[in-house]
Amino acid sequence: MLCYMLREFFMKVIICENYGEMSRKAAQVFIDQLKEKPDSVLGFATGSTPVGMYQELIKAYNRGGVDFQETTSFNLDEYYPIASENNQSYYYFMHEQLFNHIDIQIENVHIPDGETRDVEKFCLEYEEAIRQAGGIDLQVLGIGRNGHIAFNEPGSSFDSRTRVVDLDQDTIEANSRFFKNISEVPRQAITMGLATIMECKKIVILANGKSKAEAVAKAVEGEATEEVPASTLQRHGDVMFVLEKEAASKLKSIG
Ligand code: GLP
Repeated sequence: MLCYMLREFFMKVIICENYGEMSRKAAQVFIDQLKEKPDSVLGFATGSTPVGMYQELIKAYNRGGVDFQETTSFNLDEYYPIASENNQSYYYFMHEQLFNHIDIQIENVHIPDGETRDVEKFCLEYEEAIRQAGGIDLQVLGIGRNGHIAFNEPGSSFDSRTRVVDLDQDTIEANSRFFKNISEVPRQAITMGLATIMECKKIVILANGKSKAEAVAKAVEGEATEEVPASTLQRHGDVMFVLEKEAASKLKSIG
C-alpha cells in the first residue's frame, strides 16, 4: 500500500500517495473494525472526500469481504431545512453513495432530519439515540477548508452537542459547487457537536488536496483552539489522520 506512517502517538498520521490509496486505507480501517465487531455502530460523513472510501467499501462488500447486516449508523450532519428527496440532502447522498449498495438495515440508519419541525427536540433525541446504541465505535470525518468538522464552524464550543448552526460564508461558497447557484445553499444545518464527536471511540479523519493543507496543519500541529474545530481531536485518545500527500504538504514534521 502506498501509504506511510508519519507518526504514531495517540494521534496517528498516515500519508498516502494519492486519493485512491487514502480511500483504500480508510476503507480498511472500517473493514477491520467490522471483522472485530460485526455489530459496530458506525459514524458516516458526507462531502466529496469520503466518496472513494465508500466505493471501496461497496467493492469489498461485493467481494464478500465485509457485510453491514448487523451495523447501526449515525451521520454527522444535514442541511436545515432540506427535504430528504432533494438531491443535495445528505440523506440522498448517503443512499446514493453507500446505503443503496450494501446490506445495512435501513431501520438502523440515522441521519439528522432536515425536515423536522421541532429541531431542538430532534437534536436531544439524536444524542439519546447515539447513547442508546452504546455510542459510536468508529467515526469517519472530513475537514473543511476552515478547519470545520461536520458543520462545527470556527468558534464552535469544544463542549457543543447536536444542534442547529449557521453555516460560515466560506462553507456556503465551498458547498455551492454542488448546487445550481449559491442562493440555493441552505444557510443552516443540524450537526453533531464537537463533544458528541469526541465521544466516538475511534475516529478516522480524511483530507485530500492542497485546499485542505492549511487546515490539516493547524489541526495536527497548531494549538487546540475553538477557532480550528478539528484541533479538538488532539485531545482524543484514538484518532487517525489519513491524508493524501497534498493535504499533508503543510505539516512541519514532514518538511
Ligand atoms: C462539508 C461537510 C463536512 C465535510 C466538509 C468537507 O460541509 N459538512 O462533513 O467534511 O464540508 O467537504 P469535502 O469533503 O467536500 O471537501
